[in-house]
Parts: sequence; C-alpha cells; structure tokens
Amino acid sequence: MPSTINRRNWFKQTSFATLGLGLSMRSFAHDTEGLPKTNFDSQKSLINLSSNENPYSISPKAKQAIIDMIPWASRYSFNLDGLKDARTTIAKYYGVAAENILLTAGSGEVLDLVPRFLNKPNGNLVTADPTFFVLPATAKKIGYSVNAVPVGSDRGLNLPAMLSAINNDTQLVYIVNPNNPTGTYLKPGAMKQFCEEAAKKTVVMIDEAYIDFLDAPDNESMIPLAANNSNILVTRTFSKIHGLAGLRIGYVIGSESRIKELEQSYFTESQIAISDLTLAAAMASLQDEEHRLQVKQKNAAARDYTLKSLREMKLNPITSYTNFILFPLGNYDGNFADFMMTKNIHLRSNTYLGEKWCRVSVGTMDEMQQFIKVMKETWKA
Ligand SMILES: Cc1ncc(COP(=O)(O)O)c(C=O)c1O
Repeated sequence: MPSTINRRNWFKQTSFATLGLGLSMRSFAHDTEGLPKTNFDSQKSLINLSSNENPYSISPKAKQAIIDMIPWASRYSFNLDGLKDARTTIAKYYGVAAENILLTAGSGEVLDLVPRFLNKPNGNLVTADPTFFVLPATAKKIGYSVNAVPVGSDRGLNLPAMLSAINNDTQLVYIVNPNNPTGTYLKPGAMKQFCEEAAKKTVVMIDEAYIDFLDAPDNESMIPLAANNSNILVTRTFSKIHGLAGLRIGYVIGSESRIKELEQSYFTESQIAISDLTLAAAMASLQDEEHRLQVKQKNAAARDYTLKSLREMKLNPITSYTNFILFPLGNYDGNFADFMMTKNIHLRSNTYLGEKWCRVSVGTMDEMQQFIKVMKETWKA
C-alpha cells in the first residue's frame, strides 16, 4: 500500500533536512552507541536478522588457523613468518600488489578514514539515497555537505543523476554496489563507465561489501580500475561472505600513490590495527573457496524462499542480490522492528523517500521459515 506521507512532511519527520543522512540511516547498521540493546547470549531463542551477518559461521580452515595462532599471539605480526606477508597474500589474491592495498580493522574504518583524508572547506559528498550510512554520516559530521541522489523508480542507483550531481566542490563520490539497504546492483559495464567518467572530476569510492553474493559475470570487481587510477578506490570486507564480522578486517584498494597517502594518515606510528588471530583467519578464509560457495548457495536458497513467500503475501519486496531484503511496509502503523522484537525476531525498519520499509537480513532457511511464519500470523497492513 503506498504511503500517504508526502515528501515535505517526510523531510520534517526524518530530520534529514536538519540533521543529515546519518540519523535516519543509523538504525540500519550496527548500533554505534554502545552495547547492543539485546543481550543475544541471554536470549537464545532470538533470531537476529538485523545486521546482514553470515549465519553459517566462519570457515573451518579459518577456525583452525585461529587455534594454531594462539600460541604465537604474544608476538607482533611483523615478527611472525606466517603473518608478515599477509598484505601481499591478500593483494595477490586479487591480482594487485601489496602497495595497492591498505588493511584496516573492518571496512567501516576505511569508510571513516577516506572522507577525513579528503576533507576540505566547502567540500561535498555525492552518494545515493538510501545507502549505507557510515561514510555519509562521517562526512556530514566533519563538515561536508551531502548530496544524496534518490534511487530510481526501479530502486537501483541513478548513475546519470549522480554523475550530474558532481561539481567543482565534490571531494568524494560514494557508491555501494550491491547497495545496502536496497539489495540492488549495477552491471559492471555501467559501473566502469561511471567510474572512469566521475574519476576525471573527483575521487570515486566503490564499496563492494556484498559483491561476493553476485553471480558471474555481474560480480566483476572495480579493483583493476582502482589499482590503476588514483581517483578510484574500492573497499572490501571479510565481514559478509567470509563471516568474520566479529574479527574486524577489511581493506581499501587503490593506486600505489593513493594508498601511500592514506597509509600516512593511518596508524603510521603504532604499526598495525589488526590482530594476529584475525590476520591468520582472513588468510585461511581466502583459501577456502568451498566454504564461500556453500554460504552463497545457502544464502540464495533462503533468500529466494523469503522473496517468494513475501510476494505470495503481496508484500512486494525489492528483488535482492545480497544477503538482505527490503520490502515496503505500506501504511503500517507503529514501529515494525519493535513489534517483531516482541516475536523474538530482530530486524530493521525505517523510512526512505517517503515510505516505510523493513530490511530483513537473510538468515538460515530455518530462521527465514520462522520469520515467514510470524509474518503470516501477524501481518495485517
Ligand atoms: C555496505 C557496507 N559496507 C561496509 C560495511 C561495514 O562492514 P565492516 O566494517 O564489518 O567491514 C557494511 C556493514 O554492514 C555494509 O553494509
């Protein structure tokens, strides 16, 4: 059911106009304000479909690598033969050099670092609305004006409009592909063309956190472009398909000169932010293609079941290519996420472009069957 809220009221209600992107999008990512509201350990029956995590645990090879590393955990990674070349190992996997890659404690750290590094008076950020909140929130906080270009009627990112939105003060363009929270993606050809055009004018950063959930040839990364163009950056994370969210490791790939500059503003004196255990797990996980394939297949099955079930309920979800699904809540009265919490299901609800939406992460098939069961029993809008 279409919402009756008009755009002007929506601006007032969501505080977008006065407080910026960060607040209205905050609830779609990890809660940045202290501990989670729920003690997951004490509520074993809670189904957590809130943070686009991998419900299948980490690769057994990564688990073994952590165990094997424990006796060496008193050492710094640069003193350990097995770890000192971690950056090279990860870089090689993507066909780039160690000098093209900067490892960070989760890609969230890169999303915070890059706008700070590029900041200048009167600078602006061009991004999409809606999109992942971290980078736009940082940019807003440190003084950028944020030009968030609404997604198109197909809910995909509007690249031509984003290209037109770039002006002389644009310091950074941030594209999440596939996009969170819409779950849509852009074809590699369109992305390449956009990156090359936009990079003639400013820095373009592509967040590929969910790209591993796409099938070939649509999963083609922009990494090769980034390695050769100092105005293109790609961020990746081990938090999603690898399932290492709690271990905190991500990275940014760019030209040698750009990475050197970023490196100079990042932990230059204190060596490295990533733990030995995390590095060992990430390198082992990279070698475990089989685990990633299984995660991808199980995710696709649970996602397709959920999409089909929501469609049967006439809920009109956006076709997702990721591990989460966005569907409109129509005229639902109240806070849908709070209501679902009373049913022991943790998910997100929010208002975007004048409509109320629910974002549900794709859990295991059992979890999604539970979710659909609760929806069938309680949905009345
Ligand atoms: C699009 C996107 N980028 C980056 C991240 C951050 O991931 P991490 O900091 O765990 O690497 C997330 C987390 O949900 C995300 O959705």
